[in-house]
Amino acid sequence: MKIAIVGLGYVGLPLCLQFGRSGVQVLGLDIDPAKIESINAGASYIEHIDSAAIRELTAEGKLSASAELARVKEVEAIIICVPTPLNKNREPDISYILKTGEAIAPYLARGTLVVLESTTYPGTTEENLRAVLEAGSGLKAGTDFHLAFSPEREDPGNPESRVGSIPKVVGGYSPACLQRAKALYSRAIQTVIPVSSCRAAEATKLLENIFRSVNIALVNELKRVYSAMGIDIWEVINAAKTKPFGFMPFYPGPGLGGHCIPIDPFYLTWKAREYGQTTRFIELAGEINTAMPDYVVGRVAEALNARHRAVNGSRVLVLGLAYKANVDDDRESPSYRLMDILKGQGAEVAYYDPHVPAIRLTREHAHWAGTKSAAWNRETVRGFDVVLISTAHKAINYEELAEWAECIVDTRNAMAAYQDRYPAKIWKA
Ligand SMILES: NC(=O)c1ccc[n+]([C@@H]2O[C@H](COP(=O)([O-])OP(=O)(O)OC[C@H]3O[C@@H](n4cnc5c(N)ncnc54)[C@H](O)[C@@H]3O)[C@@H](O)[C@H]2O)c1
Repeated sequence: MKIAIVGLGYVGLPLCLQFGRSGVQVLGLDIDPAKIESINAGASYIEHIDSAAIRELTAEGKLSASAELARVKEVEAIIICVPTPLNKNREPDISYILKTGEAIAPYLARGTLVVLESTTYPGTTEENLRAVLEAGSGLKAGTDFHLAFSPEREDPGNPESRVGSIPKVVGGYSPACLQRAKALYSRAIQTVIPVSSCRAAEATKLLENIFRSVNIALVNELKRVYSAMGIDIWEVINAAKTKPFGFMPFYPGPGLGGHCIPIDPFYLTWKAREYGQTTRFIELAGEINTAMPDYVVGRVAEALNARHRAVNGSRVLVLGLAYKANVDDDRESPSYRLMDILKGQGAEVAYYDPHVPAIRLTREHAHWAGTKSAAWNRETVRGFDVVLISTAHKAINYEELAEWAECIVDTRNAMAAYQDRYPAKIWKA
């Protein structure tokens, strides 16, 4: 069996490896020539993916990559994993999906299965993607080719998380489409969960991510309230999670980050308007989470004030640039928001992140491009007026930090073990 995976990013590349390992021949397609070159040279461009895993499959001829989307004519199934961001007005931007659809449609052979994996609003597969595929190919979905949606469930940075053992939800445009998609995924994934339609599968992914966004907003709100009451939210969550039923721990932080949780909920809020529905809960969660960096900077100001200093003119080291612990992914990271606010208030800002040695050029953070991570040693750390922990990577030595830094503002409870030893210098935020 030969399949194509279009979009070789954080979702597409691990999926290529999982199918390749399961005996399927995989053609990876992407518009980024650097990724194509890298895969064909057997080298990884994602920190938590081993080059050896790619090399093994390319050497066996199980995996190859190309920028020529016309090559989808060689395969039985096409899986699409391209980005689904928000535009500058915070509305869904499904243009990457549509462009991919337009590029592959003229080469779609009869009987091919097309599966969309990008997170998106209900209706994208059956309405938008189907329309461009049918228009460009002259074929009909459900009769001439098969169409399905299957959301990705990646947990980057979690070594226990393996694509093959994470149950996969699949919805088809027709019962026959569902059967085809189930058969495809069953080759590489242990458990496939069928649902009644593409829309139900799209809605499932949004529920999963909205669930996280709302619960994180709840603990972020409680963090502020309990902090004002002199109660430590982390102690409270740790106690609450001993309840063996009806409770699931979520943890506060400096704001949402990553390609999913800050973005996906707004795919639903936008689509809901078409049906005359309001989504106050989701919007409120977004509002609370978006306000977190301002709260955290407020705590930095308090910590500095206690040392007779102002944010203006202070040297601040932001610890952790990636949006979550132990990964190199800095997309939508709240650390950037913190750095922007602090800089805007006159602070001199630097960052330290062992996973992000230098900031790449991106549209959103072009003004930080080229900035390099600070060095990790006593002299450098001591040179800052305050160290702000935004992401708690395991690779950071917090004992050294506790010894070296003059003042630490901690949004992740990373300094819990040192709080008693250095009560005056550690501030929770
Ligand atoms: N990263 C995650 O943890 C995660 C988890 C679940 C779902 N998702 C969803 O999966 C989708 C992909 O996310 P990602 O993190 O892999 O994104 P990514 O940016 O890492 O990768 C997307 C890839 O698609 C390529 N691409 C863009 N337009 C293309 C086109 N027209 N033709 C071919 N290739 C094209 C890009 O060059 C890039 O390599 C998104 O919808 C995202 O919401 C991501």
